Amino acid sequence: MTNDSRRLRFGMVGGGDATSVGALHRNALRLNGDTELVAGVFSHDLEKSRRIGAELGVAEDRVYASAEEMAVAEAARPDGIDFVDISTPNAFHYPASKAFMQQGIHVACEKPLCLTPEEGEDLELVAAESGTLFCLMHTFTGHAMSREARALYEDGVIGQLRTVVVEYPQDWLVDALEQETEQDKTWRSIPELSGRGAAIGDIGSHMENWVHYVTGLRVTAVLANLEAIGAGTMLDNNFQVITKFENGASGFFWGSQVAVGYDNAFKVILLGEKGSIEFWQENNNYLVLRLRDQPAQILSRGSSYSRPESLKYLRTPKGHPEGLTEAFANIYSAFTDAVRDRQAGVVTPEHDYGYPTLSMGLAGVRFFNACVDSQEAGNTWVQL
Ligand SMILES: NC(=O)c1ccc[n+]([C@@H]2O[C@H](COP(=O)([O-])OP(=O)(O)OC[C@H]3O[C@@H](n4cnc5c(N)ncnc54)[C@H](O)[C@@H]3O)[C@@H](O)[C@H]2O)c1
Repeated sequence: MTNDSRRLRFGMVGGGDATSVGALHRNALRLNGDTELVAGVFSHDLEKSRRIGAELGVAEDRVYASAEEMAVAEAARPDGIDFVDISTPNAFHYPASKAFMQQGIHVACEKPLCLTPEEGEDLELVAAESGTLFCLMHTFTGHAMSREARALYEDGVIGQLRTVVVEYPQDWLVDALEQETEQDKTWRSIPELSGRGAAIGDIGSHMENWVHYVTGLRVTAVLANLEAIGAGTMLDNNFQVITKFENGASGFFWGSQVAVGYDNAFKVILLGEKGSIEFWQENNNYLVLRLRDQPAQILSRGSSYSRPESLKYLRTPKGHPEGLTEAFANIYSAFTDAVRDRQAGVVTPEHDYGYPTLSMGLAGVRFFNACVDSQEAGNTWVQL
């Protein structure tokens, strides 16, 4: 990090409700303690947005009616925001990100990046033209042991990936999705707001992203089965996908938002030529490393043998579990390092900071759209 101790100023688009992920973002940024919230569009309802802004201590004249208005106004201020945090429903990620990048304002945005590959390609062009940074909030990459897995993989500890199994069962949407009617749909079931897929874009994007983040490998083909269990009107809430990766490895992804009895059981087994790595987000302070002809090892966060890439983000001693808020805070910490460097004229590739990038987000959008294509074509292989 360059030597600039000023708190970075940020604004929010979305994140108004206490239960929204944007509230978690604020907690994570408070944990880091090097930023201040000064502007926002906290809801599409301006009155509600003003009320929330006042509760959060944002000056009245910096609560805006739209992302576009906020981007122009903040860019014109000498004390304008250094970056924006976008945590709206999916459909608004693209127009909001574009509006801020066009004004030269760096963006941290929730996943998935956007709804279509065309939108993602456009964002790549705008980022290149404007020179802005883009951080995609794929939470699980922020866990210290995800960083450890990435360092182990990059060091060749398990060799080249041969196959991967990812499962992500949750049941928090059982009531919302199985019993929903046309009248009370959540935005997650409305294609114009969610995208062509629901669960596949919502949690499938996390699955593809974690494997991509850790191994650097892109998915090149998918064969998908997407299902809407429990009702006739909604998008998918359960899926299986067979994947092919650019190095010839294969994968199997199962995700479900109606898996009764499962909380948030994201689990990955990466199987390489020499061994395997197992990561389970509900037990994210540990990794299981299995090497040929050796007993399985349980690697603990913050240990003497831990890689610098994970030790860098150590917040509590080992055995005192860190969790979701720390994962978000770690992603933000990497991103604000990048923002400070960029402001000081230091240009380092975004990949090197360790946060998920725009190009990873585009790969994710291509992935889940290809899964929908596969389903719509009668469960056939689709090349990305
Ligand atoms: N990274 C993660 O682990 C994670 C977890 C949950 C959600 N998400 C992502 O975060 C995003 C939001 O999900 P959520 O669960 O918080 O949804 P939510 O419906 O709980 O909250 C969305 C918030 O955005 C506000 N909003 C809606 N439209 C807006 C607009 N046009 N302008 C400004 N604000 C607007 C709403 O008032 C609300 O406060 C989604 O893209 C979702 O995929 C990511």
